[in-house]
Amino acid sequence: MNVLLAGANGQIGKHLVQLFKESNEHTVRAMVRKEEQAEELKQAGVEAVVADLEGSVEQLAEAAKGCDAIIFTAGSGGHTGLDKTLLIDLDGAVKTIEAAEQAGIKRFVMVSALGAHNRDNWNEAIRPYYAAKHYADRMLEASGLTYTIVRPGGLLNEPGTGKVAMAENLTRAAIPREDVARTVLAVLDEQKTYNRSFDLVSGDTVIEEAVKGI
Ligand SMILES: NC(=O)c1ccc[n+]([C@@H]2O[C@H](COP(=O)([O-])OP(=O)(O)OC[C@H]3O[C@@H](n4cnc5c(N)ncnc54)[C@H](OP(=O)(O)O)[C@@H]3O)[C@@H](O)[C@H]2O)c1
Repeated sequence: MNVLLAGANGQIGKHLVQLFKESNEHTVRAMVRKEEQAEELKQAGVEAVVADLEGSVEQLAEAAKGCDAIIFTAGSGGHTGLDKTLLIDLDGAVKTIEAAEQAGIKRFVMVSALGAHNRDNWNEAIRPYYAAKHYADRMLEASGLTYTIVRPGGLLNEPGTGKVAMAENLTRAAIPREDVARTVLAVLDEQKTYNRSFDLVSGDTVIEEAVKGI
């Protein structure tokens, strides 16, 4: 598959770009919001496109044109205000879903957050963030796209273990970003994960086995 990666300059995004470079099956078009980020990727031999999640659906559809799938791993981050939570984590995600529809792309993988589907589990300190994730995920589930929603726990920058736990409901725990990226790549064309949503934390099962067993 040729995949548009929204959030390619992010921490999970960078792991994914590297994994795509090593992949014999899939190729990536890295979507970033600054020319210099695109230049750096191109210098490293990666196809890159500049598009802003605060831009129009048409611009996002143009960026995605010709791709077979979209991975969304963008986010406004903890350093911005609730305006960006609304505009990136919710509306940016939904516009990317609309762009997939407009560009005729059926496959969509969303990086969400553990427990986003269940209001009772939302972290009190960041409920608006969870609300944004919740409704972006619901819009994807209600779309006609073939989706997989991966809801990781707290993200760590330590090296991946290659082993995870995934299920519809898990207790809050952490996971290295590298393992999230590996899982996202593994679900891409694994039909067992089509139209499924699951929590993801570090665990005992090898990622490739876990995605087949979901
Ligand atoms: N932190 C956690 O513990 C946690 C837990 C569960 C899930 N998550 C979710 O995991 C995902 C990825 O996490 P991460 O650590 O890789 O995030 P990250 O490093 O903050 O990366 C987010 C990326 O989104 C991009 N972005 C932001 N606004 C944009 C815009 N307007 N247009 C285009 N791109 C834009 C950023 O671009 P720039 O590089 O240009 O700034 C950045 O590259 C996020 O969706 C996050 O909500 C996080």
